Amino acid sequence: MSVFTAAVAGKGGVGKTTFSALAVRHLHDSSKEVVLAVDADPNANLHAKLDAPLGRTIGDLREELLANVDELPAGVSKQEHVEYQIRLALTEGGGFDLLTMGRQEGAGCYCYINNILRTFIDSLSEKYAYIVMDNEAGMEHLSRRTTRSSDTLFIVSDTSKAALESASRIADLARDMDLSTYRTVLVQNLMRPDEEVAQFRSFSGFDAVYGVRRSALIQESSRSTESLMDVPATDPAFADIAKAIDEERRTTAGR
Ligand SMILES: Nc1ncnc2c1ncn2[C@@H]1O[C@H](COP(=O)(O)OP(=O)(O)O)[C@@H](O)[C@H]1O
Ligand SMILES: [Mg+2]
Repeated sequence: MSVFTAAVAGKGGVGKTTFSALAVRHLHDSSKEVVLAVDADPNANLHAKLDAPLGRTIGDLREELLANVDELPAGVSKQEHVEYQIRLALTEGGGFDLLTMGRQEGAGCYCYINNILRTFIDSLSEKYAYIVMDNEAGMEHLSRRTTRSSDTLFIVSDTSKAALESASRIADLARDMDLSTYRTVLVQNLMRPDEEVAQFRSFSGFDAVYGVRRSALIQESSRSTESLMDVPATDPAFADIAKAIDEERRTTAGR
């Protein structure tokens, strides 16, 4: 059923989670659909920006399944058990369901459990029209599991040279990994109001470049609260993110 799947990547602290949370809000506000939000950063904080509790993570679930693997019912009912547990791990919020991946696997043998988990996460994903995945910082963690077959990979950067270089390395890596994303775009975050995104059009390797302005409100409110649920649609950063999402939604729909 998926209509638009957005994966969000980039170096730490450039605004991935901010982009993801506001993308979730915009997709819900404009479609009224319940959006699937996936937090694939082990240092999970998408829930905080969406003002939702940190529920049980897939990492927790994986450990529990591994610890009890001998007691699991056999056959079909084992799969039903896992599916049920995944549903329990979904946090329902205002306009979204949140799935938090949590920590990566430890030393045990997880192949079997990972396969079951992946099957169910894939089939769960099919029930949503809109999916937003907030990924871990750093390209080495760009996960096939969560970024494959997204429509648009949004690589977030700030205006620093280091972040821009990191963004283009992530784009190269995504190409090498053959993630089957339809488009890879650069999101230049924290722009000054007078800065022109046009000057960044020269970046090669991206299908498009979007600018997101620095928001005084977001910057100020992050001192007291992480939630972005009350950020108004008129906020410059929110408006820019909404525009980038709409443009990608339109472009990928016409393929
Ligand atoms: N457009 C923006 N305007 C103002 N502050 C922002 C903006 N984007 C991100 N921030 C702030 O930058 C910090 C890092 O953002 P975050 O989304 O957590 O980054 P990441 O997920 O990439 O580590 C946060 O304090 C956030 O409030
Ligand atoms: Mg983050």
